[in-house]
Amino acid sequence: MREQLLALKEEVSKALGSATTDQELDKLRTRYLGRKGPLTTILRGMKDLPEQERPVLGNLANQIKQELTGLLDDRREKIRDEERIRKLEQEQIDISLPGRRAARGVYHPLTIVTREIIAIFQGMGFEVVEGPEVELDFYNFEALNFPQDHPARDMQDTFYVAEDVVLRTHTSNVQIHTMKARTPPFRVIAPGKVYRCDSDTTHSPMFHQVEGFLVDRDVSFSQLKGVLTVFCQALFSPDVPLRFRPSYFPFTEPSAEVDIGCFLCKGTGCRVCSQTGWLEILGSGMIHPEVFRAVGYDPDTYTGFAFGAGIERIAMLKYGIDDIRLFFENDQRFLQQF
Ligand code: DAH
Repeated sequence: MREQLLALKEEVSKALGSATTDQELDKLRTRYLGRKGPLTTILRGMKDLPEQERPVLGNLANQIKQELTGLLDDRREKIRDEERIRKLEQEQIDISLPGRRAARGVYHPLTIVTREIIAIFQGMGFEVVEGPEVELDFYNFEALNFPQDHPARDMQDTFYVAEDVVLRTHTSNVQIHTMKARTPPFRVIAPGKVYRCDSDTTHSPMFHQVEGFLVDRDVSFSQLKGVLTVFCQALFSPDVPLRFRPSYFPFTEPSAEVDIGCFLCKGTGCRVCSQTGWLEILGSGMIHPEVFRAVGYDPDTYTGFAFGAGIERIAMLKYGIDDIRLFFENDQRFLQQF
């Protein structure tokens, strides 16, 4: 029996040495140390031994069982260590690699300029109002005193949705909506999209305007001049030269276009300002009595001024952009610059 035990120890030690996985070790444990294994059989045979030999062999058997269990555990630990090292080597992470920067969005230049314009007028007490882009002829033309045969109603400039419905060609329609809905005094700016059938380096079929208007009793042209001067100085620079040039719009009388001194040639004349030294930036005027009549206001009681500017044009002048299409191509290299 002693020989049996020692041979078993020898056999198991050998088998353990060649085991390479946890599962193999589990199998060995059941095979040799389990309830149906040889060790159990040997221990069961103890009762047939002469009385005096039992304690000695019993001791030996227990000792061997303990030793084998210990060996098995050691082997298991070694296999797990090796497994861990192999994994670590395979899954190497290079912690010296620089991290990937999160891509951050930027505001579109038109958003930046629009917000800047809004902030300037809010500083002068104007509130922001929006109006519809799909519009009745009445709000886009008729109530703004466009005569029936005015060229701006021509099919070439205006996108018609139906006989009486257009895509608004300017933000001036917001004047009519606001006046019809409210009682003066009020001062409003209305930024938004407008549409004209026109496309080249300085014209886009969809572009943005900002409309402004103020209605009250006793409004004067000098107040219009004051508000627009503050606006241009805040938007461009405090010493920008300004020129109010007589002009014509159906919905204002008198009307004026506002020019700023050409920032490129400083007034001497260049390609950007077509040799004039001036750059036109907005249209304006005193609201026409016919417009007041169209919305049911008494033109003897109320007076007001209005103005409208193209946002792309202002952004192009501010940032020195020479092609309007750049705003709508969404090229990251362009957009990231603002
Ligand atoms: N609606 C004009 C346009 O689209 C711009 C304009 C001119 C607006 C004079 C006004 C204004 O309010 O008073 O060209």
